[in-house]
Amino acid sequence: MAVDLLLGLQWGDEGKGKIVDVLTKDYDIIARFQGGPNAGHTLEFDGIKHVLHTIPSGIFHDNAMNVIGNGVVIDPVIFKRELDNLKKFEGLDYKSKLIISRKAHLILPTHRLLDAASEASKGKAKIGSTLKGIGPTYMDKTGRNGIRVGDLELADWKERYTTLRDKHLTMIDYYDAKIEFDLAELETEFFAAITVLKSLTFIDSEEYLYQAQKSGKTILAEGAQGSLLDIDFGTYPYVTSSNTTAAGACTGLGVAPNQIGEVFGIFKAYTTRVGSGPFPTELFDEDGETMGRVGNEFGATTGRPRRCGWLDLVALKYAVRVNGVTQLMMMKGDVLSGFKSLKICTAYKYKGQEIDHLPYNIEPENVEVVYTEMAGWSEDLTGMTEASQLPKELNDYIDYLEKELETPIKIVSVGPDRTQTIHR
Ligand code: IMP
Repeated sequence: MAVDLLLGLQWGDEGKGKIVDVLTKDYDIIARFQGGPNAGHTLEFDGIKHVLHTIPSGIFHDNAMNVIGNGVVIDPVIFKRELDNLKKFEGLDYKSKLIISRKAHLILPTHRLLDAASEASKGKAKIGSTLKGIGPTYMDKTGRNGIRVGDLELADWKERYTTLRDKHLTMIDYYDAKIEFDLAELETEFFAAITVLKSLTFIDSEEYLYQAQKSGKTILAEGAQGSLLDIDFGTYPYVTSSNTTAAGACTGLGVAPNQIGEVFGIFKAYTTRVGSGPFPTELFDEDGETMGRVGNEFGATTGRPRRCGWLDLVALKYAVRVNGVTQLMMMKGDVLSGFKSLKICTAYKYKGQEIDHLPYNIEPENVEVVYTEMAGWSEDLTGMTEASQLPKELNDYIDYLEKELETPIKIVSVGPDRTQTIHR
């Protein structure tokens, strides 16, 4: 059986949590392959909203095993909080449904402090990091200093922890920006959380997934963040520190490229971004304000308001190509109800020339946006359940995007609940 992928195609927050939740019934295994608690995957069912940060979105389904892959970075403290939240679900035995790669790296309290010191010292050039320690942890991974989940099974792991912590403390001193912290308190919380983490099952996830595939199990790899935040292909340096694109699933799970099946690409009917960095179609007017308000565009992890703007087809085409997307899913169609007309960015004027691909640098001084305009619709979509009910103008919008992206849009989401999902 092939491994299917589910990826965000914009700057994150496309609604991956909801779609994994909708698709999970078709899969035996849901696997997270990159990122960490900077992600906030929101799921809504039975009128209640649930936010997951590290745990795969299949955890609420009886049929699915959930794997945290080697490419993920885990903060034991946040992870413990997530597990505590799951305890309120009667009958949800997470210990039997959640397994963790020994090769996943740990976020230490001092990684978080380093993130804060680094951001504070950047002033106006700050990335807008979620301050969860993601960048410093991946730096230690590639610098070959990191501590992995499997290390917790070794007798000397605490010594290694102390060595790395002390190095971090020296590095924190290096920054001009001084940050306040109580290390003893942070460590008490950290070691308590490590005990909880150690009560779960650690696996060699690449071997587990290989055997699962061989025995015919269906696997869905769940991405975090979005393609435009990819460390290589995103709007560097305003990106996260992992490969959020399809290739990241291969390295983050140990799945061979020729084993990838469907690549589901998720995008919002408009665009949002949290944190700093270029955003060519960003709106600073009433339309942007309406998208933010109606779409409830606040970060699931940080609560920060998201920047909003029109759909950027140039960026979306780029993401479809880099990932090899085979099926698209359009989220939050309902948020655009009531706009008289809708704009879609079809090209950039880059250094005086019109181009339809994403150039090296999309800072505002280099890029002017070229828009096409389409008629909007006024119908409330949130109660619709069939494709035949969708207004003509929305169908025109979808048809246009499918043609331009050369990829079918298979799902149109018309609200946050599981049930508000239209299959086409
Ligand atoms: P970091 O990954 O916390 O270092 O943040 C780097 C950039 O990625 C910042 O602009 C964040 O706002 C953004 N980012 C990280 N995780 C997410 C996410 O899950 N959704 C949207 N943006 C994210």
